[in-house]
Amino acid sequence: MTDERLRRRFQRRLLTWYRRHGRDLPWRRTRDPYSILVSEIMLQQTQVERVIPKYHEFLRKYPTFDALARAPVREVKRTWYPLGYNTRPVHLHGIARETVARYNGRLPDDERALRQFKGIGPYTAGALLSFAFKRDAPILDTNVRRVLGRVFLGPRRLKVLRGQKAWWDLSAALVPKGKAYDFNQALMDFGATWCMPRNPRCLPCPMKAFCKSYPLSLPSPPLGRGLR
Ligand code: ADE
Repeated sequence: MTDERLRRRFQRRLLTWYRRHGRDLPWRRTRDPYSILVSEIMLQQTQVERVIPKYHEFLRKYPTFDALARAPVREVKRTWYPLGYNTRPVHLHGIARETVARYNGRLPDDERALRQFKGIGPYTAGALLSFAFKRDAPILDTNVRRVLGRVFLGPRRLKVLRGQKAWWDLSAALVPKGKAYDFNQALMDFGATWCMPRNPRCLPCPMKAFCKSYPLSLPSPPLGRGLR
């Protein structure tokens, strides 16, 4: 596992980066677990830009677990429709009904209960625990895996770290105490806007002093006259 000093350096640098470069996204302006759940289910398979308008529309129409649970599932699917993947609205509707029926309309804040809902996998459970309940829980998706793998393991990352559990352990070891909310949101933004799959922004990257994959991309030198 990564050593303590390196971990701290990564945490500090990521949080500083997030204060300057983090995105102002609507689901980061609320503490309401229902709204955060809606955003995370939408974001499972859809890009941020496409989610934003639908997130607002959906919450206007169904502002609470109660409102969503009372709506007919066919109507919820229609509201969702352009986002695609029709199991997501059905699952979300099911979660709302179950939350009203079994939990008095409040989303449970423990991992086991969350994972029992259809539609809440390990990533979404981690996102809900850290974003909706401010718990020190890790997250892991393909973006987080790419960022952590590049920084801590290098180009052979998929050979070095095998199996989901090892990756979850790495992510968990990095979460700074009491700061999982900002740290995990920062990881999402860092993976989406700087440490992208192709052409990552290595030159200005705050991790480059210790990143095991640096440099992955450098701007190509300008072509000289006559060399085009
Ligand atoms: N993708 C999934 N969850 C996200 C979040 N909270 N912010 C940005 N992108 C995300």
